[in-house]
Amino acid sequence: MITSLQWRLSLTLTAAILVVAVGAGWLGFRSAYDDTIGLQDDLLMQVGSLLDRLEVALPDEGLVGGYPGADHESRITLQKLDGGEHAQPSQEHVLSLPADLPEGLQTVLAQGEYFRIYVRTLHSGVRIALSQETDVREQIAYRNAWRAILPFLALVPLLLLVIHRLVRSLLAPVNLLSQEIDGRRDDDLHAIATTTLPREIRPFVDAINRLLQRVGDTLAVQRRFVADAAHELRTPLTALSLQAERFEQAELTSDGRQRLARLRSGIDRAKALLHQLLTLARTQAAPPRENTVFAVRELIRQVLENLLPLAQQKDIEIGVDACGDARIRSSELELALVLNNLIDNAIRYTPSGGRIDIAVQEQAGQVRVVIADNGPGIPVAQWQQVFEPFYRLNGNQEPGSGLGLAIVKTIVERLHIGIALAFSDQDQGTGLQISLIIPTATPANPAIPGQL
Ligand SMILES: Nc1ncnc2c1ncn2[C@@H]1O[C@H](COP(=O)(O)OP(=O)(O)OP(=O)(O)O)[C@@H](O)[C@H]1O
Ligand SMILES: [Mg+2]
Repeated sequence: MITSLQWRLSLTLTAAILVVAVGAGWLGFRSAYDDTIGLQDDLLMQVGSLLDRLEVALPDEGLVGGYPGADHESRITLQKLDGGEHAQPSQEHVLSLPADLPEGLQTVLAQGEYFRIYVRTLHSGVRIALSQETDVREQIAYRNAWRAILPFLALVPLLLLVIHRLVRSLLAPVNLLSQEIDGRRDDDLHAIATTTLPREIRPFVDAINRLLQRVGDTLAVQRRFVADAAHELRTPLTALSLQAERFEQAELTSDGRQRLARLRSGIDRAKALLHQLLTLARTQAAPPRENTVFAVRELIRQVLENLLPLAQQKDIEIGVDACGDARIRSSELELALVLNNLIDNAIRYTPSGGRIDIAVQEQAGQVRVVIADNGPGIPVAQWQQVFEPFYRLNGNQEPGSGLGLAIVKTIVERLHIGIALAFSDQDQGTGLQISLIIPTATPANPAIPGQL
């Protein structure tokens, strides 16, 4: 079964037009044919009536009509019908006709051919027969009938083409609509504009909009729930952490101390997980924060200040190459979260003694921040998956919740920042290089006066 509405419409309309065209064509053909035959009969009768009025003396051998150049078969023959006996043709064109032919029009078989014959008794009492070959009459009628319906038949393909185009253009808004929805980001649930849509599909789109609204509401409730749950869990976890700290001061056996250390590291991991969970839920649920103008280099410096102890602990060297003073208009707090997660990853997943390079480049209309480490990197097949919540690479020994890059993805999409992964060392396929492409002017992010 054909499921395409466009094809079904086109085929149904085409079939309907062809049925109508064949019916109308046949009727037109028949009526043109009958008219021509009727005209020819009229002609025979009119010639008969003229002869009657003129009262001309008729030759015994008959008369053949026609003019120079006229078709031999199409001529009209006039002959007398002799009373009583079967008339004997004196000439080749005179037919052998029975003398008792009835008055009026008739079709008669004579000398192996059919003739249309008009018999009339003149005032003088002479009976005449006007005859014409039926074959020729029919040929003329066919020709006329075809001529009458030919323009109509020629227009049928044109009509089919117009219908196909029309159906396509009528369904174009539906195609545009599906393209618009396909091109949306996962979290883009805003209502579809219906003002430019045809009235017939508006109820359908309204229903989709209502569904989008419900999905948005459900998502918001779920995110709020996650944020509330993470928030609520923080209090008992902090109490647990305090209790564990107090335990440290108590007298414990070495086995007890080992167990306490494991307990504390477990609590720390749970705290880190709750922190990331809360950050992700808040980032997803919160409305976009206000944009401010700030210098990227300064923001990187602030983020590094917090992360330097961890880097020093692992003896990792961090180089910052920020020529110029690139300033952007964006959400400073959220960009700080992005940089924090990316640099934290770089430090965490680069082995001790490694190196991280951070570069800020200013190009026409955009600022690029590139963070490259010389750790193991991420295999190309997982470049998409690492941005999914809770996804961590196999064999990962570092503690972590797998939420950092999901937070990064949520923020960069919202701030219209591009993100690209690559290897720091292309030949070896090692080291992770992450580039952030921050536009300096977008509709939501107008150009900074006096900048770029
Ligand atoms: N610079 C990097 N080098 C190698 N692997 C990385 C790097 N950054 C991220 N990864 C891999 O991607 C995974 C996902 O990173 P993500 O930041 O989302 O989570 P996480 O670091 O495990 O936990 P979290 O950041 O929430 O504490 C990591 O577990 C790690 O396997
Ligand atoms: Mg991380």
